[in-house]
Amino acid sequence: MKYIDQEKIENKKVIVRCDFNVPIENGEITDDTRIVKSLETINYLLKNNCSLILLSHLGRVQTREDKAKNTLEPVAKRLAELLKQEVKFLDDPVGMKVLKTCKELKPKEVVLLENTRYCDYPEKLESKNDLNLAKYWSALGDVFVVDAFGSLHRAHASVAGISKYLPTYFGFLVKEEIENLNHVIKDIKKPFTVFMGGAKVDDKLGYIKGLLPKCDYLLLGGGIASSFLYALGYDVGESLCTNDELTLEELRYLYKEYEKKIILPVDFVIDNNMIFDLGEKSINKYIKYFKMSNTIFINGTAGKFEEAKYAKGTKDLFTFINRSNAFKIAGGGDTITAINKFNLAKNFNFLSSGGGASLEYISTDHLQAVDFIEENSK
Ligand code: 3PG
Ligand code: MG
Repeated sequence: MKYIDQEKIENKKVIVRCDFNVPIENGEITDDTRIVKSLETINYLLKNNCSLILLSHLGRVQTREDKAKNTLEPVAKRLAELLKQEVKFLDDPVGMKVLKTCKELKPKEVVLLENTRYCDYPEKLESKNDLNLAKYWSALGDVFVVDAFGSLHRAHASVAGISKYLPTYFGFLVKEEIENLNHVIKDIKKPFTVFMGGAKVDDKLGYIKGLLPKCDYLLLGGGIASSFLYALGYDVGESLCTNDELTLEELRYLYKEYEKKIILPVDFVIDNNMIFDLGEKSINKYIKYFKMSNTIFINGTAGKFEEAKYAKGTKDLFTFINRSNAFKIAGGGDTITAINKFNLAKNFNFLSSGGGASLEYISTDHLQAVDFIEENSK
């Protein structure tokens, strides 16, 4: 992997892919960790007299309505405050205004284009790594810098595709993440326990197979737990769960093979026929596993922690882990948001800004976007 400090990048127009997929409520950013983590690369390039065209996704865009809900405008404002300089914001990731603004951009100026996933509707161009779209973006600048660690498990057009057409480097956030995760991967002190929760069920299920041979215990919460319970014949009501028959078949098979490692919850907080949090018995059960672990990896939260009535599982488990002597790391936007919310960041050995990305890297030793870039970049 080639990093931005390995060659001189000066006086260039640089396209920087960041992961600004931050939590936003009523137009307000509730946790700006990912924006703050992008500053080192941005400031370095500005110091080298470059002009910057920033790209990022936000949320998922499948309908016209999703566009309005997922605008990056609040990110441009926050970034301007942090950089103490103007950040131009363009309300479209493509189009005439984009071409004109990028063409006229002067050294040290910064522009943020609207959510790259606007190009996922009506056609999935960004997520399917449409190379025409990648080529279009590549024409806006001279160099491509990838610093979106949280998106490196996605070989999408703005993360990977652009590298086909421009000299490509990775930024300082990616460097920090990879160095820290390599350290974890090479020297995992056993017993190694993973807690996996959260909402992106099908994504995470895909990684479980690679993770099980590496860990000693896999404790489950959220939609992953309900998917296993459902596959094993339990009634999970309307809970977040995979519907994919093949996946369910595979879960049954995995459970049989790894029955001693896969640890499932035994009680829940239920509302409207849906699971929203782990119950007291499950929390105590999981704490027993954390007590005997020397390495703990948290990927996802135990419940819908954003609402106080569903926050206990996440708060109790994360608080216990925070006080334990194990080597402890956590990954993911929501996971870090929860850790910050409960003031637990200090004792963690490493907080990764990527959930899916850290999971993919730890379970497969690969990152899809990195693989694409290494094979295709100019
Ligand atoms: C994340 O929050 O995990 C990353 O920003 C990737 O988002 P995605 O799962 O929607 O691709
Ligand atoms: Mg996320």
